[in-house]
Amino acid sequence: MIETERLIMRPMIQNDLEDFYDIFNSDNVGKFVNKMSHESVEKYFDKRKNKPNNPYSFAVVLKENNKMIGTCGIVYDKDNFCGEISYVFNDRYWSKGYCTEACKAIVKYTFENSEMHRLEADCAENNFASAKILFEKLKMNFEGKIRNYCKSSDGKIIGFNFYAITREEYEKR
Ligand SMILES: CC(C)(COP(=O)(O)OP(=O)(O)OC[C@H]1O[C@@H](n2cnc3c(N)ncnc32)[C@H](O)[C@@H]1OP(=O)(O)O)[C@@H](O)C(=O)NCCC(=O)NCCS
Repeated sequence: MIETERLIMRPMIQNDLEDFYDIFNSDNVGKFVNKMSHESVEKYFDKRKNKPNNPYSFAVVLKENNKMIGTCGIVYDKDNFCGEISYVFNDRYWSKGYCTEACKAIVKYTFENSEMHRLEADCAENNFASAKILFEKLKMNFEGKIRNYCKSSDGKIIGFNFYAITREEYEKR
């Protein structure tokens, strides 16, 4: 479990299912990650909740009302000592700094509690909020763009931007 000023980050529990559904059943979220039916959310939730090899998939809970407002996790590639961060938050709680607060905690937690040497993340070229978090808030380096990388939810072919921070960079800051 990780605690920050306003958030608790803990493993997902069955009671999070409705909050999890609330996050993914949103047109705003659906612009950047797949909008899901209740049934597919349940399946996806079970997969995330029961991933025994990935204990770093956190439910992000607001201390003030105990609501699960997002998920933030890292998938570790232990052979290569690196990890990839991903996140999604309930759109009713956007632009209040919650994702930044959760990601900063996860970066700190990783570099201070594991042997990882690199943390990376990517986002669609039109995902300006995510790019701001990675580049401005987490101070990750922009490592480049892959053009025409994939199809977005509205069918357009879009590029993806890639960001990363190394242990050396983290320790210098
Ligand atoms: C990306 C996401 C997790 C951000 O969550 P959040 O809690 O709103 O993030 P924060 O408030 O910590 O930071 C977002 C920053 O981007 C800014 N921002 C929001 N929309 C923006 C836009 N369209 N253009 C530029 N900046 C924008 C916010 O103002 C904030 O900056 P500020 O604190 O300096 O004002 C949320 O938008 C989300 O769930 N999106 C859908 C899923 C997703 O895209 N996941 C990532 C896939 S790579």
